[in-house]
Amino acid sequence: MITSQFSKKSEAWSARFSEPVSDLVKRYTASVFFDKRLAQVDIQGSLAHAEMLHFQHIITKEDYDAIVGGMTQISSEIAAGTFTWLLDLEDVHLNIEKRLTELAGDAGKRLHTGRSRNDQVATDIRLYLRGAIDDILILLAQFRSALLDLAEQQADTIMPGFTHMQVAQPITFGHHMLAYVEMFGRDAERLADCRKRVNRLPLGAAALAGTTFPIDRERVAATLGFDEVCFNSLDAVSDRDFAIEFCATAALIMTHISRMSEELVIWMSPRIGFIDIADRFCTGSSIMPQKKNPDVPELARGKTGRVNGHLIALLTLMKGQPLAYNKDNQEDKEPLFDTVDTVTDTLRIFADMAGGITVKPEAMRVAALQGYATATDLADYLVKKGLPFRDAHEAVAHAVKTCVDKACDLSDLPLDELRVFSPLIDADIFAVLTLEGSVAARDHVGGTAPKQVRLAIARLRAKLG
Ligand code: ARG
Repeated sequence: MITSQFSKKSEAWSARFSEPVSDLVKRYTASVFFDKRLAQVDIQGSLAHAEMLHFQHIITKEDYDAIVGGMTQISSEIAAGTFTWLLDLEDVHLNIEKRLTELAGDAGKRLHTGRSRNDQVATDIRLYLRGAIDDILILLAQFRSALLDLAEQQADTIMPGFTHMQVAQPITFGHHMLAYVEMFGRDAERLADCRKRVNRLPLGAAALAGTTFPIDRERVAATLGFDEVCFNSLDAVSDRDFAIEFCATAALIMTHISRMSEELVIWMSPRIGFIDIADRFCTGSSIMPQKKNPDVPELARGKTGRVNGHLIALLTLMKGQPLAYNKDNQEDKEPLFDTVDTVTDTLRIFADMAGGITVKPEAMRVAALQGYATATDLADYLVKKGLPFRDAHEAVAHAVKTCVDKACDLSDLPLDELRVFSPLIDADIFAVLTLEGSVAARDHVGGTAPKQVRLAIARLRAKLG
């Protein structure tokens, strides 16, 4: 067995250097305290690489077996929390490799044949992110399912729909919830699409140009469940567009969460009183004993800022980098990890919180009866009787003005007064002006009629599977 006479050096490249780095530089350049999160995927990637090296007769069966044995032990040490992480060893990759060499001897040192930390770390991030995406897709499905349950319970509950935060037209609360189900459904589509580009194998690119060893990249890709290999070695080690794409998708998820949070907070204000949120998602005030604050939606709205920030951080990280790998890329991890953690926790909590929302239909109804929410129904009624829409709009505007002056609703005006605005108005108008009549009349795909809400729920449930 041939062993290097220089193998006593503690750092992978130290023979080239004549002075050590300062403690500050060591700490500045190290990533182990955050990239150790990649340990299990790092081991998974190394085992697939080693298996291929053995299959291609680049390392012996004995070496391969020693690597598997060592990695199995390292994996349990890490899981048990007994593994010693050393800042001196810079990152997760060198920490694991060093321990492997302690356990497996020269076999450990042969593992890095035909590989670089550049393609290794790119592989690790992709494996990690693929797992995170799969988790988030499950959470998005659970959240949508909880929203569908809520929508079904409230398919007939009428509330005011708003534009410009002004009462616009009556809608059903179920319909309102379904708007969010659509948004989170598109987020899931985007995530599934992003996964396709995440799920490609960088290993084999080595440092940047490929390797002189007769490797089989397709074999490694198949072992690790990647759909295909990254086809250009420079691109494979240098770009992090897949992580940026994920963060963009995450930013949209959080943006949707934030919009919903804003509504929940407004709806829970005693001035509005449309909903209550279960106590377990709220907190009190240290000074005002009467307070019950919707902390969870407020915090989610706030956390959207940090996720949006991570997207900008990664875009900025990438924009100035020449090909191929640069150490800048080490900075991809913390924003990415924090994005995954934030989105994962938020969705988990929101899926639970959806079941903890108590709807107050009476308050919604009272609000819907204010603000002339059925004015458009009156205009549509006149159009159906032959009046051009613009003229109908004008006639109803006059009617609303009169009602504002009299402080009453359109439906409070007697028929003869209504007919002043248009002789086309008959007694059948009063059914049209009810909240129930208004929502039931919007009876087409995508409309707010309870019947359509139920059809939409069935369609969305079938999609969720
Ligand atoms: N810790 C490094 C990172 O996260 C691993 C790759 C280091 N490669 C190198 N050539 N220094 O990017």
